[in-house]
Amino acid sequence: VSRRVTAPSLRTRKGGEKIVCLTAYTAPMAQLMDPHCDVLLVGDSLGMVVHGLPTTVGVTLDMMILHGRAVVRGSSQALVAVDLPFGSYERSAEQAFDAASRILCETGAQAVKVETGQGVADSISFLTGRGIPVIGHVGLRPQAVHLEGGFKARGRSAEEHERVLAEARATDEAGAIAMVVEGVTPALAAEITATVSCPTIGIGASHVCDGQILVTEDMLGLFDWTPKFVRRYADLRTTIEDAVQRYAADVRSGAFPASTEEYRLGSRT
Ligand code: KIV
Ligand code: NA
Repeated sequence: VSRRVTAPSLRTRKGGEKIVCLTAYTAPMAQLMDPHCDVLLVGDSLGMVVHGLPTTVGVTLDMMILHGRAVVRGSSQALVAVDLPFGSYERSAEQAFDAASRILCETGAQAVKVETGQGVADSISFLTGRGIPVIGHVGLRPQAVHLEGGFKARGRSAEEHERVLAEARATDEAGAIAMVVEGVTPALAAEITATVSCPTIGIGASHVCDGQILVTEDMLGLFDWTPKFVRRYADLRTTIEDAVQRYAADVRSGAFPASTEEYRLGSRT
């Protein structure tokens, strides 16, 4: 029996101890984060973060499965959730079930996440009714980037506020175990959090949510540009650039490798 955080235990955290989430795409990073996180999300942001894609639209189900497997192998305590990528779930509940069941079977993850625009609520209840825990995702929906014309914060007009609130309600009523709330005003984040029965996990959605998530590489400072809502807890970009520069200089000068870094005849070390 797994000792991981379960879907029902996550749901009981509503209004309680804040839920800690980060994205993970590889086994060694998952291993480092696992003791400190309630949820590791294999986000389709891996398209941009790991594969150099311009948006998440080009991410495939096979990519999600490959990274999902690595994260499950590298973790033992956190609940692992995997994003259903663009094109793998929107057409019908049956299509969503096929994609979600492949993810659960082939990776060992315990939940999937879907961006919940209009029409996706039916798929959430279809999956939930068949044993698949689903995390919703409302507000700024990166997979809708082409329709929206970019990545823009949501809920700034009254009409948009009502639309996102309705999507959050539908997601909750369909049985989502939690929902990511991305890029919305604090007022909207507060209203969603107060309205829905499942925990909200904010990203660019203020402190009022029941938990928080960031893209790990963003908060580690791997990129020279990050959105306003990211707090940088490290400066990995500088650390890596510095290490690579020193390595290159040592190779060019002959300072690396030294004699202690060579194998010798008759030596066992
Ligand atoms: O893909 C992702 O990383 C996400 C989170 C930022 C919520 O969806
Ligand atoms: Na995502």
